[in-house]
Amino acid sequence: MSILRNIENDITEMMCKLGYNIEKVNLQPSGRPELGEFQINDAFSLAKENHCNPREIAEKIVTELEKDGRFHNLNIAGAGFINLSLTEEFYLEALKELSKDIKSNIDMEPAKKIIIDYGGANVAKILHVGHLRSANIGEALKRLARLLGMEVIGDVHLGDSGLQAGMVVSEMKERYPELPCFKENYQGEDFSLPITSDDLSVIYPTASKKAKENEEKMEEARNITYEIQKGHLGYSTIWNKVKELSLPEIKRIYEELNTSFDLWEGELDSFLYIPDMLKYLEEKNLLEVSEGATIMDIKEETDKKEMPPIILVTSNGASVYATTDLATIYGRMKRFSPDEIWYLADSRQDLHFEQVFRASKKSKITTEATRLEFVGFGTMNGSDGKPFKTRDGGVMTLRDLISLVNEETRKRLNPMITDEEEQKKISKMIAIAALKYADLLPYRTTDYIFEPSKFADLEGKTGPYLLYSTIRMNSLLKKARNEGYNNYEIKKLKNETDKEILQTLLNMPRILKKSYDVKSLNDIAEFLYKLTSTYNKFYSENHILTSKDEELKTTWLALTDVVYKTCLLLLDVLGISVPEKM
Ligand code: ARG
Repeated sequence: MSILRNIENDITEMMCKLGYNIEKVNLQPSGRPELGEFQINDAFSLAKENHCNPREIAEKIVTELEKDGRFHNLNIAGAGFINLSLTEEFYLEALKELSKDIKSNIDMEPAKKIIIDYGGANVAKILHVGHLRSANIGEALKRLARLLGMEVIGDVHLGDSGLQAGMVVSEMKERYPELPCFKENYQGEDFSLPITSDDLSVIYPTASKKAKENEEKMEEARNITYEIQKGHLGYSTIWNKVKELSLPEIKRIYEELNTSFDLWEGELDSFLYIPDMLKYLEEKNLLEVSEGATIMDIKEETDKKEMPPIILVTSNGASVYATTDLATIYGRMKRFSPDEIWYLADSRQDLHFEQVFRASKKSKITTEATRLEFVGFGTMNGSDGKPFKTRDGGVMTLRDLISLVNEETRKRLNPMITDEEEQKKISKMIAIAALKYADLLPYRTTDYIFEPSKFADLEGKTGPYLLYSTIRMNSLLKKARNEGYNNYEIKKLKNETDKEILQTLLNMPRILKKSYDVKSLNDIAEFLYKLTSTYNKFYSENHILTSKDEELKTTWLALTDVVYKTCLLLLDVLGISVPEKM
């Protein structure tokens, strides 16, 4: 249990003994540090319940707290705000605890099995800026949930059953009609694709343009898509080959973003469950036919807005986005029975997910207890406030986006790094840190503006600042080890910034919990900046290695070690890796 939670439990118990009915006291970092480091505001709600004066209750609590050796500077402000600080002995004990294991300062959440559906790359299309946040936020949430004790399965849920399948195959047919898969009597004989993955980046846009301009082409694309969904041998074979060809580049980009998945499944994998699912819904009398399409009504009495029915089979028999998502849930419940499924996608997909979730609750594909959650996010915009585009107005690919940031980090690389390979590697790592940190810093649903030179800056709330500071902590520790310091005795503090660092660290479990609850990483990103900048202030105020006071020196080394490890831990949660030097 975290150090702060432990104290809170003790105070809660004490208050219960005083006869107050309180579930959990809240020890908050003080908004007015001049009055004390922490505050307790529970006297107010208790006063209401007990029909008395909050100050009276606050006084009783303070009298008890004075008997506890861990607090000092106890005072009551205003009508009943309790302020208090923790003693130096307490902070030293806390530092000892953290030195043993920084993870002891984490409050585990009740264990659950969670599937996180994120990434969402589309086969044969290029990964673009719209996929960035899904990867970054999803990966970080996965890591955070695991840190807090959850069992998590990450699934990339590839988009592979949509219209792009028909478009690409139709274009392939036009270019290479002689391929065996297009023969009338195709029996499944193997063949190799006459294209490379680079060609693919031309084939899809060409096909898509043709279909948009020509209704006949569009019709053909629809038909082929439908045939692929039904398992047409020739079309499925070539589509699978295209998928194989497109995956390495998708995987490479995810790897660059430190994003990895337990399952590499896609929409097409859900087709295994569609017939069963439709039968199940049919038996429950939930399906209707409207203008040839099979739909399900999902209106609820309390609805304030229009809620269109969910379309499961189109009039020509095809499955759509909602069908595959519902069938995926059907399959996931059968295979994994998760407690929760989280979906990471652009906030504009809100309605789609609401429809799917309603359908799965109404049909009891999921249980009453299963939690389905849409974790929507805002867009990364250009300076014009619209989703970020290339200079000529095209879709910005993730590959190019990373390069843009890389150009900036390259400019700022330490000139002492001369080896070209090393330069490349380190500047790429810094670029990823810059991009990811900037992406996770705003609250999840907030849009933000892409500013590569700001993201890459070594000063301010940026990934490079955090990396630089973390590396500096490590080199300080290395120097200390070279001087023979390995175990750091924890003896005393200077009662200034060193204490502020410890206060910050004590607050970490709360930050983790809040991030987990709201499924946004912004508080962790802010926390890392606060911890790092407080440490840097301390670093510039004190000469740690040359301190003549051995007791201070070893305590400070212990503190540095704890801050360093905490930074590594939280950077890792954000999916940011730290280079050896920069
Ligand atoms: N492939 C989709 C897209 O690019 C995102 C998938 C989100 N996940 C889901 N289960 N629908 O928009």
